Amino acid sequence: MLSLLKAAWIIPFCFSSLPTALCVPFNSKARSPPARDFFPRGLRVGTELDTETGDFASFTLDDTSLIATLDYGTERGGYPFFLVADVSQPVQIEVKYSESFVGLAQPWADGPYPFSTGLANSYRVETFNVTSPGRITAPLIQGGQRWESIRLVTSGSITFETIGLEATVDTTEIEDFPGQFSSNDEQLNSIWKLGAVAASTACVEEGTQLATWEIDPVTGAFIRSQRASQTLAGPLYSDYTLSFDTMIDRGGVWWAMAFPLARGEGLQLQLISDLPEGSTFANVNKTQTPANSVLLSYGYDFVNQTTLTSYYLDTFAVPFAVAEKTWHHVTTALSPGGRLSVSINGQVVVDISITDYWTPAPVSFTGSFGFGAWQDQAAYIRNVSVSDTINGTVIYTNPMTSVDVLAEYGTQTNLGSVCLDGPKRDRLVWLGDFYHTARIIGSSTSRFDLTKGTLEFFLRTQIANGEMNIAPPMGYDPSITAPFTPFGSYGLSDYQLLGLDGVHSYIRQTNDLGFLRETWPQWKLLVDWTIGKVNSTDGLIYVPSAFLGPSQAGSAVSCLAVQALQQLSELAQAVGDDTSKSRCDAAAQALSDAVNRQLWNEDLGVYSLSTSDKGNFSVAGIAFCLASGVSTQHQTARALAALDGLSLSPGYKDSTAASSTDPTVVISPNTNGFLLDALFKSGAYTTGHQLIKSLWGTMVNNKQTSSGASWEYVDQSGNPGLSYFTSLAHPWGGAATYVLTEWAAGIRLGPGPEGFGYKHWIIAPEAGLAMGLQTASARVKTPAGFLAVEWTKSSKDEVTVRIDAPPATYGTFKFGNETKSLCGQIQYTLVRKISS
Ligand SMILES: *[C@@H]1O[C@H](CO)[C@@H](O)[C@H](O)[C@H]1NC(C)=O
Ligand SMILES: *[C@@H]1O[C@H](CO)[C@@H](O)[C@H](O)[C@H]1NC(C)=O
Ligand SMILES: *[C@@H]1O[C@H](CO)[C@@H](O)[C@H](O)[C@H]1NC(C)=O
Ligand SMILES: *[C@@H]1O[C@H](CO)[C@@H](O)[C@H](O)[C@H]1NC(C)=O
Ligand SMILES: *[C@@H]1O[C@H](CO)[C@@H](O)[C@H](O)[C@H]1NC(C)=O
Ligand SMILES: *[C@@H]1O[C@H](CO)[C@@H](O)[C@H](O)[C@H]1NC(C)=O
Ligand SMILES: *[C@@H]1O[C@H](CO)[C@@H](O)[C@H](O)[C@H]1NC(C)=O
Ligand SMILES: *[C@@H]1O[C@H](CO)[C@@H](O)[C@H](O)[C@H]1NC(C)=O
Repeated sequence: MLSLLKAAWIIPFCFSSLPTALCVPFNSKARSPPARDFFPRGLRVGTELDTETGDFASFTLDDTSLIATLDYGTERGGYPFFLVADVSQPVQIEVKYSESFVGLAQPWADGPYPFSTGLANSYRVETFNVTSPGRITAPLIQGGQRWESIRLVTSGSITFETIGLEATVDTTEIEDFPGQFSSNDEQLNSIWKLGAVAASTACVEEGTQLATWEIDPVTGAFIRSQRASQTLAGPLYSDYTLSFDTMIDRGGVWWAMAFPLARGEGLQLQLISDLPEGSTFANVNKTQTPANSVLLSYGYDFVNQTTLTSYYLDTFAVPFAVAEKTWHHVTTALSPGGRLSVSINGQVVVDISITDYWTPAPVSFTGSFGFGAWQDQAAYIRNVSVSDTINGTVIYTNPMTSVDVLAEYGTQTNLGSVCLDGPKRDRLVWLGDFYHTARIIGSSTSRFDLTKGTLEFFLRTQIANGEMNIAPPMGYDPSITAPFTPFGSYGLSDYQLLGLDGVHSYIRQTNDLGFLRETWPQWKLLVDWTIGKVNSTDGLIYVPSAFLGPSQAGSAVSCLAVQALQQLSELAQAVGDDTSKSRCDAAAQALSDAVNRQLWNEDLGVYSLSTSDKGNFSVAGIAFCLASGVSTQHQTARALAALDGLSLSPGYKDSTAASSTDPTVVISPNTNGFLLDALFKSGAYTTGHQLIKSLWGTMVNNKQTSSGASWEYVDQSGNPGLSYFTSLAHPWGGAATYVLTEWAAGIRLGPGPEGFGYKHWIIAPEAGLAMGLQTASARVKTPAGFLAVEWTKSSKDEVTVRIDAPPATYGTFKFGNETKSLCGQIQYTLVRKISS
């Protein structure tokens, strides 16, 4: 046992100044110079899609070889490009992008994903008219895919020299990440990579996700293949008339009204051109988008995609040819009582009452407006004006000819270095997801600049009560908060608490106390906010809404709050704010007592979902009540036994309230990830090992679905949950990555501020041995250099542990009931008998 006294004696000795540059870890490789492009690893040319690809080489598509399947080997993101060596005549190619192979066979591949605009193409099918040899680069980002297909949709032939993606994310190969993990179990090694790849492709540097609209001083905003993006100006406009001029370049134009910011549902309208033969792609579906028509829909889009529901309301014929490359004047009036009318060039085309159409809830005529273009469409917008429908007062005008338009409509180049929830979808900076992302970064990519950038981005969205936007979009200035506050961007209160884990992870991994001191007043607002959510009657947390379980007197949210307060206490200690530290400690203790008094169900042996649902329990409740140390040893043991009640292959269902016989119930690697961490912290190594193998195993076992990255949801047959809409590169599903580093290899941070930046580290091979591993190694990047461990079990029940430590740090070696302090060296070798 490392006593306090002993630690105090060790510190001064260990902090003698050894030059940090001397630290040369074993297994270390020089980082490759960053490449700008991603290239496919595999290619198959034929008449059908095919997973079995060979090496990439120059290839030709013609009337016998119609389709090429390209495999990038793992999740990649960027601007697609094609180097064409030869083309017989103008030909059209239809390119599809998909995270899973199976998505390529779908009409819209694994899209569209109009949940947000995300500075990317909203569509996964993109058509090109190729007229001459040379390089073609797609104008919009395809944020995440492993697979791509190219189909010739006209006659003729085309020969490709090279195909790839101009990278919009870090191109460092996994083998070159500062953080590494390896063991004798190849499946675990692949599973470790899942989170690492997800965090690598979901985090983007400032200035890399370029503006999606082009602004011309005369012709205005040029918009392609992107869901309507809304102005910040009109979140509360109601019963208004929108007028604008549009010149359709190809196919049609999309505008949306009564479309609340940061919410999906609004009125969606599309004007389709006369679809002239010369400029209409051969693959345009004229049933979906009939020539010379106005389409009206309510919801996210005009087609359905899994949970993004669209209610296609009607198609209206325009009584004249809507010529392309000609200006048209469009006026749409929303009137009180639900009247909606559209006129094109002064002719009324639509005049309806919205209440005559079936929608799941009444359509409100309040909310912002915006402009877009459907799949493969392109159009210009200018001379926008808005007036009050009743009294005619003009409330908004914009010629759309100045680049300011990009900031106003959220389509400007990204202003921050941020981690998104996924590179494909939703491409929003989700606060709650950052919990796992920040931890994964610490054990793999070590892109602490991106962790810090993400925290800074959130801090810019903070409002007076301390809350931060739970999902700020990249394309708007995050410090403009007012337009987002009315519609739920500050909802899901538990995301504030999950977000606090992100700053705690960052400070633990880097010891960046400069950043912490500078931003401490803002984190302190969240101390007040959290303590303010404790109910004076029962001492439990009450918040307006929560993702992880009941928002009032629930075990998941209350125990998560205990953990957050403990983390805030450590941060307060690190900046010398004793008052805040005491407040956090006292609040955490009182909350912990209140949870044990009111939420522990001794009959069931588990924490109840909430005080008003005593008979149910959840993965998140167990996870946070165990990980935060709220549970006693007795409670931990019983709660672990109760887990069987949540077991639903290939993992655990979120709550006992979810039916095990309902095939649509999906397993969340996010909540199972919270649990996984808690299992190892509680010593339930075998259960943890089984969960990694069964749940994360699904993500690496099947070439038809594996993307190389961790998934958002998994269904009960081990396929991606939420159908094609699912993000298959979601760091929130990547907890196995840091858990393997911390437990299977056994590299962990020392407790409390003394562990910040790995000044004090822990090496403990015990969990890995319990998992049956013969050998494991891992490496993490610390401010003073690499910390690495490699342990091997020899045949005669002995384990040899070799440690490379950064200079001026000290460690604790934990093995069985042994706790040995390691100090004063940069290499240690320990040999221990394994007792069975
Ligand atoms: C493709 O380009 C050729 C040559 O510029 C043009 O004649 C043809 O109309 C274009 N086709 C489409 C669908 O844009
Ligand atoms: C064209 O669109 C219609 C209407 O959405 C749809 O039913 C049909 O399947 C589509 N056709 C093709 C070939 O995708
Ligand atoms: C989308 O799904 C909803 C619910 O199932 C359905 O009511 C609606 O008609 C569908 N929309 C389209 C465009 O198919
Ligand atoms: C529309 O915009 C163009 C270009 O900015 C301008 O010349 C024209 O006067 C505008 N028309 C109206 C009606 O505002
Ligand atoms: C006209 O409408 C505007 C915008 O809705 C409103 O602010 C204004 O008070 C109205 N004016 C009158 C005279 O009703
Ligand atoms: C506090 O809890 C009591 C029940 O224990 C409830 O009636 C009350 O509404 C809660 N107060 C707040 C502010 O949530
Ligand atoms: C668990 O929750 C479900 C759904 O809310 C409810 O029907 C059921 O009664 C609850 N079970 C117990 C044992 O309380
Ligand atoms: C450590 O554990 C071993 C058995 O694993 C036991 O024999 C020994 O007494 C323990 N030592 C201490 C100090 O608890």
